[in-house]
Amino acid sequence: MYHSKITGLGFYVPDNIVTNDDLSKKIDTTDEWIQERTGIQRRRHIIRGEDTTTSMGVKAAEIAIERSGLAKEDIDFVIFATLSPDYYFPGPGVLVQRDLGLKTVGALDVRNQCSGFVYAVSIADQYIKTGMYKNILVIGSEVHSTGLDMTTRGRGVSVIFGDGAGAAVLSREEDLTKGILSTHLHSEGQHAEELIVKAPGMGQRWVTDIIADNNPEDESYYPYMNGQFVFKNAVVRFSEVINEGLQANNLQVSDIDMLIPHQANLRISQFIQQKFQLSDDQVYNNIMDYGNTTAASIPIALTEAWEKGKIKEGDTVVLAAFGSGFTWGSVIIKW
Ligand code: UT7
Repeated sequence: MYHSKITGLGFYVPDNIVTNDDLSKKIDTTDEWIQERTGIQRRRHIIRGEDTTTSMGVKAAEIAIERSGLAKEDIDFVIFATLSPDYYFPGPGVLVQRDLGLKTVGALDVRNQCSGFVYAVSIADQYIKTGMYKNILVIGSEVHSTGLDMTTRGRGVSVIFGDGAGAAVLSREEDLTKGILSTHLHSEGQHAEELIVKAPGMGQRWVTDIIADNNPEDESYYPYMNGQFVFKNAVVRFSEVINEGLQANNLQVSDIDMLIPHQANLRISQFIQQKFQLSDDQVYNNIMDYGNTTAASIPIALTEAWEKGKIKEGDTVVLAAFGSGFTWGSVIIKW
């Protein structure tokens, strides 16, 4: 039995910065509304032809692998979390294997939206614990900008999401007091339709129906979110799953050195911070700069926090996510 630890982190965001004022030129919205309701000031959008979910993931992964001190040949497995794959199939995991020139290692795609990175880390942790793999590359990457309804109709959702990628290398750790102490995953599919992109799917609306309809008013390709309902569930589930992780390890709230919450809404993070009575130094937020990048948000924030020296050896780091599904989860790490 082993533990796994994070040995390399990296992130990549496109150069193209889109401010709230930029959005207000296309959509009936204001910088004031967006900042007040979400905390977001700007986000990144890819430039057509320059980046994709996979290419951003590859760029983040290259940095993470280099920082881990490993060679590409040392990577035993790839896990890629995204809700915005380049292709409907195959998923981006195999494209990373190709584009990074990895050995013919296994490549797994995770589809758990905002909780995707936490789910992916949990899977990687299990493979490393059992001794099956030694070094696993975990990526969260998203391109939202090409799939949003950039009209006033879609404003409740389209101002929130941004593009970007983050990656981590998880490696075997023999000291069982270090690394990932536990992971906790949950779902409640009863609320699947409260935050959803319906098409293209093979369920109620067949692709052949969509093509036959050829309807420019078809909204099934755009994300739908019942914002207030999602918000109310998020604050409850974030709290529960952080407590669950702490209790499983006999830790107290005061033991948390750094909480990296999924960057869904600054108001959600602030609510959690207040509820757990954490200081500004104990919670890392960067939604102001990148918006909500779903599966990429935790690895981007974790990398930034680590780059800024806010995470040190011996720290107790908590990752927590909630999102579409509903799915939620936490990871407790002794750094
Ligand atoms: O990452 C996965 C998990 N996601 C989340 O946890 C997100 C949770 N939800 C939220 O963050 C918030 O619900 C939103 C930021 C999405 C929305 O904020 P809200 O305070 O819940 O606003 P609302 O949807 O209740 O809308 C309030 C008003 C409405 O107008 P009326 O009906 O009061 O006249 C909306 O039409 O704000 C209007 N509105 C906007 N106005 C300007 C909605 N979007 C916009 C906009 N600009 N972009």
